[in-house]
Amino acid sequence: GDMARFIAAMPKAEYHVHLEGTLEAEMKFALAQRNGVKLPYADVAAMKRSYVYHDLPSFLAIYYDGMNVLLKQQDFYDLAYAYLAKAHAQNVLYAEMFFDPQQHIDRGIAVEAVIEGITQARADAQAKLGIESQLILCFMRDLTADNAMKALDAALPYKDRLVGVGLDSDEKDNPPGKFAAHFAKARAAGLHVTTHCDVNQKDTLGHIREALLDIGVERIDHGGNILQSPELMAIARQRGITFTVCPTFSGQILVNGKPVDVVRGMLDNGLKVTLNSDDPAYMGSEYINEVMVKAQIRSNLTKAELLRIERNAFDAAWIAPERKAAFQ
Ligand code: ADE
Ligand code: ZN
Repeated sequence: GDMARFIAAMPKAEYHVHLEGTLEAEMKFALAQRNGVKLPYADVAAMKRSYVYHDLPSFLAIYYDGMNVLLKQQDFYDLAYAYLAKAHAQNVLYAEMFFDPQQHIDRGIAVEAVIEGITQARADAQAKLGIESQLILCFMRDLTADNAMKALDAALPYKDRLVGVGLDSDEKDNPPGKFAAHFAKARAAGLHVTTHCDVNQKDTLGHIREALLDIGVERIDHGGNILQSPELMAIARQRGITFTVCPTFSGQILVNGKPVDVVRGMLDNGLKVTLNSDDPAYMGSEYINEVMVKAQIRSNLTKAELLRIERNAFDAAWIAPERKAAFQ
């Protein structure tokens, strides 16, 4: 309809997309064949039928298992280029993409191969398609602090290929403060800082508070439970924190057992909300346009609100202000 056309035509920016979460079943099969990896599924349809999860840990198990076909630098190139081509086709002008180096290092892959493959894809996508992108290294909060520090140290020689660090994976009993030293080291190396605060987790508000006050993050990925705390919302507004909401995954919080719409709540409370696709290959292959069309309906967004959301997004770009002007 008219709204879908409006959304498709809008210039967009995306900040919350895990590259490994863009690994479509079709590419997983192709890479498995190329790399001689055996998959326990007869075909793409059977693989997609296995993508059933009911919470963050059960989602993550499927997502990490899928990475086993990613072995060579070329695999990471193909993965990143495919995402960037799709994003470009949906009028995304700029993307900042997460990756999980620890999961690859722990499988014996050199972090250099991961970063170089993605970096080459970014350069080619910019040259051939005109889409600009940057890369955010995520610490996996459910692994040890030592494991994350080893990954950071291995990646820092390539810090000019990174724009920031983030924090993802299983939230339970893994507060941002566990990685205070990592964030400090990354910041000292000139990198920006964000963290996931997934919705409806154990101690979500405690994690948001720690991210804002102790770590000093510039963004919060998801973060919908902040709507339960006027005090934390005031801090987020005062600091201009951007929220990268993924409506498919984190579009609703539960307050006293009742669902509350996160995007509507953030808009109405003056928070800088953006819309993002998170792990599209595992979320019905819905990329930014499909995500926004559904969010428009569910959160009853006007065209003016959609434009405000994309203005929030371009404002949040971790690029030099003079280069940002090219997007406005
Ligand atoms: N890794 C990939 N997607 C994630 C999410 N939504 N939350 C935490 N870790 C993730
Ligand atoms: Zn995420």
